[in-house]
Amino acid sequence: MADLSLFDLTGKKALVTGGAVGIGRACAVALARAGADVAVVDLNEEVAAKTADEIRAIGRDAVAVRCDVTKREEVQAAVQKVVVSFGRLDIAVNNAGIGILGADEEMDQESWDKVIGVNLTGVFLCAQAEAQQMIAQTPTEGKIINIASMSASIANCNASYDASKAGVVHMTRTLAAEWGRFNINVNCLSPSYVLTPMHASTPTVVRRRIRELTPLGHVQRPEDLYGAVIFLASAASNFVTGHDLMVDGGHTLNAWLTPLGRAVPPRVGPEEETVQLKHDLDLLGFSYDKDGINPDVHPEIADAFKAAFGSEEAPE
Ligand SMILES: NC(=O)c1ccc[n+]([C@@H]2O[C@H](COP(=O)([O-])OP(=O)(O)OC[C@H]3O[C@@H](n4cnc5c(N)ncnc54)[C@H](O)[C@@H]3O)[C@@H](O)[C@H]2O)c1
Repeated sequence: MADLSLFDLTGKKALVTGGAVGIGRACAVALARAGADVAVVDLNEEVAAKTADEIRAIGRDAVAVRCDVTKREEVQAAVQKVVVSFGRLDIAVNNAGIGILGADEEMDQESWDKVIGVNLTGVFLCAQAEAQQMIAQTPTEGKIINIASMSASIANCNASYDASKAGVVHMTRTLAAEWGRFNINVNCLSPSYVLTPMHASTPTVVRRRIRELTPLGHVQRPEDLYGAVIFLASAASNFVTGHDLMVDGGHTLNAWLTPLGRAVPPRVGPEEETVQLKHDLDLLGFSYDKDGINPDVHPEIADAFKAAFGSEEAPE
């Protein structure tokens, strides 16, 4: 029998911000499946409560906590609520994030401030409150995992989003250097395009293009992050800190320069890509078509892609 104890999170106490749906929900489920009790921290308390129910169904303790990560007092109070529920905090995934699309030559300051506020300031406020708790507890230690993006390394979305994510990656290095002396590891996880509610309005033609440009051949699903988050949360990564772990199926490797097309089918087919997306849209009460698309969830994304790709339908 294999010994997987390095990855075992039994008895560990975790929180995930933005944990109600999408990548946050996937991280919460992965941590619970590896043995951790998980607090689902989110603006949307109603959906966070449903995700907490799912974690209890896995057999772990769970709590839903309402919190806006841009507000320092709310973040401090949320971490305290988690500690009251669980007794300590071993693992924190700072995932809550947003994007506001638009051309940078026209971007208003309010939108810039909002994106930086959630994606960069929010991650700092959470990491600070989490580290305060991890430093105060005995034994002093912890794992902080910040969800950045491939947009930290490539020009992908627009200036506010890309700069916020690059900020998260570099802030992670600084915090890792500072907090190593408390046995706190601080790392990043950087996904590519993930089929979450954030991408519920992405048309099939775009998904086909992503598949074509991704060496591993499918659009990323939230569950493609399970292994990476368990690694960064567990003893398996005890000597890894300040790292940005890219989980992108090779999407950012500039692979279009090499001959694409597949030798064998990808491990994941188009229908399997949307299973968690549909699950999340159900949780949120949104309708969708057979591909898990509802252009009204993020009309700005649907419009932007339509402008870039036209309305051509993608045959599978
Ligand atoms: N989906 C992608 O393609 C993708 C790719 C790379 C990185 N990311 C990053 O991953 C993270 C999660 O993305 P997602 O696609 O799951 O997003 P999503 O929009 O599907 O879900 C985000 C969750 O965060 C919560 N949230 C938003 N603002 C909040 C706030 N101020 N305080 C607390 N909770 C808040 C929402 O209620 C929601 O539950 C974000 O940081 C995003 O930038 C996403």
